[in-house]
Amino acid sequence: MAASFEELFANRPVILAPMEDVSDAIYRRLCRSVGAELCVTEFVNVEGLLRGCRKARHKIRLEPGDRPTAIQIYGSDPERLAEAAEVAAAAGPLFVDINCGCWVPKIARRGAGAGWLKNPTAMVAMAKMVVERLAMPVTVKTRIGFGAETEMPIIDLARRLEDVGVRALTIHCRTANMGHSGAADWAWARRAREVTSIPVIVNGDIDSGEAAKRALEETGCAGVMVGRHAIDHPWIFREARAMLDRGEALAQPTLEERLDLCRTLLRERWALRGRVNSTRRHLGGFIKGLPGAATLRRELFESDSLDGNLAILDRYQASADGHVAA
Ligand SMILES: Cc1cc2nc3c(=O)[nH]c(=O)nc-3n(C[C@H](O)[C@H](O)[C@H](O)COP(=O)(O)O)c2cc1C
Repeated sequence: MAASFEELFANRPVILAPMEDVSDAIYRRLCRSVGAELCVTEFVNVEGLLRGCRKARHKIRLEPGDRPTAIQIYGSDPERLAEAAEVAAAAGPLFVDINCGCWVPKIARRGAGAGWLKNPTAMVAMAKMVVERLAMPVTVKTRIGFGAETEMPIIDLARRLEDVGVRALTIHCRTANMGHSGAADWAWARRAREVTSIPVIVNGDIDSGEAAKRALEETGCAGVMVGRHAIDHPWIFREARAMLDRGEALAQPTLEERLDLCRTLLRERWALRGRVNSTRRHLGGFIKGLPGAATLRRELFESDSLDGNLAILDRYQASADGHVAA
């Protein structure tokens, strides 16, 4: 049974990050099957949503089993964000998240995503407007600051966002200027957590169960969010849970589990898109560590059809079974 907002964060969830072209309904289902406790959709452009554009509508569609999921929206106009948040809320997420962290220049330069960090007062006023419009919780995902400020705005911002009714804050512990490079500094999540009483979720560089545990111990945060590592290794969700709950380091996924996840992703993405391209960023990671992984990866990448990919996986499994039996 789906937990309430408060129950969910009381258990320090391990969360699948919103990732454009990754965290779609198929990948959310797959991550949930290996332990993700909360998922966030890819970011959805408010103008697309308000125009009723097909891609945006598809992104906010939540199947009955797709719970708990938050819908993330982005835009630069407070009124449009508030209107779009209402549309997103009608799709039945657990909450609506506002993206204030996207560093991609074509988005941030227009004042959306991390662009909001250049004007914290406008960001807080925008969040207030969205909060007042929705009956469900509104959260914000942001970064520690935009650039090389000596004092990052995040601490003051965290306080002010809580004051206007934002119910949780995810902090990607890098500046916008860092993009994805350099190390995430979790200490900022701890400082933000110390000045607020809403759940703060720590994000950035969580790449193992051990790292999830360290991030929560170092910050006292209410949850951890995993981005890039979940692209390669979705089993991180159950590994983090076992580490957090029991201090247990789970065994690596078996060969069968790895190949089965490849098959599931291939079949589902093929059914949706009729192409295998979008699985490639995942498959190399799924099979990493298997004997002959480099050859298997090359063969998979050379085949453009579902049947071709499945046959390669079957052949590989049969020969691996043969080695085990021999
Ligand atoms: C391919 C990709 C797409 C992303 N798309 C989004 C997005 O739509 N919304 C968002 O808030 N962050 C997005 N991010 C940022 C991640 O949510 C996350 O904050 C970042 O990758 C840091 O976490 P990590 O070190 O665990 O990867 C994206 C990251 C990647 C790698």
